[in-house]
Amino acid sequence: MSAFVINGGRRLNGSLRVQGSKNSVLPILAATLLVKGKSVIHNCPMLSDTHCTVKILRTLGCKVIRNGNTITVDSTDASGYEIPEDLMREMRSSVVFLGAVLGRVGKAEISTPGGCEIGLRPIDLHLYAIKKLGVEIDDSHGRLSCTVPDKLVGTKITFSFPSVGATENAILTAVTADGVTTIVNAAREPEITDLCNFLNSCGAKIKGAGESVITIEGVKTLTGCEYTVICDRIAAATFLVAGAVTGGDVELNNTVPIHLNSVLPLLEEAGCDIRVRCKSIRLKAPRKLNRIDKLVTQPFPGFPTDAQAPFTTLATIAKGTTVIVENIFESRLKHIPELVRMGAKIRTESRVAVIDGVDRLYGAEVFSPDLRGGASLVVAGLCAVGTTTVRNIAFIDRGYEDFENNLCSLNADIYRKV
Ligand code: UD1
Repeated sequence: MSAFVINGGRRLNGSLRVQGSKNSVLPILAATLLVKGKSVIHNCPMLSDTHCTVKILRTLGCKVIRNGNTITVDSTDASGYEIPEDLMREMRSSVVFLGAVLGRVGKAEISTPGGCEIGLRPIDLHLYAIKKLGVEIDDSHGRLSCTVPDKLVGTKITFSFPSVGATENAILTAVTADGVTTIVNAAREPEITDLCNFLNSCGAKIKGAGESVITIEGVKTLTGCEYTVICDRIAAATFLVAGAVTGGDVELNNTVPIHLNSVLPLLEEAGCDIRVRCKSIRLKAPRKLNRIDKLVTQPFPGFPTDAQAPFTTLATIAKGTTVIVENIFESRLKHIPELVRMGAKIRTESRVAVIDGVDRLYGAEVFSPDLRGGASLVVAGLCAVGTTTVRNIAFIDRGYEDFENNLCSLNADIYRKV
């Protein structure tokens, strides 16, 4: 089992080009299935989740060519409708293929994704949306068999919670349906806007992306286009926190600063100097970080749950007490016992963590509990005294492209032990 070995205590400095967004590339690659022809997608991060998405596209009959960070998908002959169980297990978010396969083929067979490291993650909202659009669902023995007995027809979908995945599935199912679909209480995350921008570039008629109400006028066909995925705001947040906890001076390029509007003020509250210029963000950290009064995760435009774990690490070495409330996923504080092994002082109750800042963390052997939790332990290792070994790093490889080399380019001492 590979591990990251980090010799802590080095101040990060320098500049970095941030990878393309993992959470955008997955639905956009799924959406290429709806296109009759070739889609050329640039800025795809090379991650294990991207590799899994490519495998699914090939299973469904697409020809996929990868050239660096560009993926070309030719879906002319795609007619598959079944996603094998092993691929569903490999990547829970492959459920986003449901809408695309239904839109393309009119039927879909997948296994129920089940819970994961960060919580139960039901898909009731996904199923509610596709049912409203005319899909019949047989959900038995862990398999979902979906068929469109007549045709997909536009409708009004009102979500009880702005789920990112369910909004994506609703969009993908509705985009080639007959008539108009309105999604009320849609997720507003930048990755939703990115998906809609891609689909509109292919000829879709979607309005309101990034707002709570999205309107989709169904079109008969989508044609291929060339598209560039947005920058990964969570990877950007992680590198900024890494700069902050090491007393560093880092500049991130190729970012979309407004996507970090809920994140940057908290880094300023911690005492960092933040300069935003067009697509770049520069962070200069103080010698000692201040506490953040309260960090509460919320759907976008609120503070992202995916950045909660790295910020927990920041709070462990800040002056004073920080309270963190995780509102989105029920089991997303699993990095905390690992941080405690490194000397952090944290009390938790249910979804709340109270963190009393300590002078320093100490290197230890720790285990990634999940993707962002794992990244938070690497960040902890960067500022800890001594050597930290982070195991279970397959989780981290799901979301961070070339993580150790990017950190090394910022002066970190980290390597992968295979
Ligand atoms: C996506 C992101 C993930 C991010 C999350 C919230 C991808 C691949 N993943 O996950 O990184 O942390 O958004 O920003 O884009 N829920 C239900 N029923 C449903 C669907 C969701 O109860 O049918 C619940 C979930 O269990 C969770 C909450 O809603 O508690 C948020 O989930 P959702 O917004 O759907 O997140 P994902 O799309 O799974």
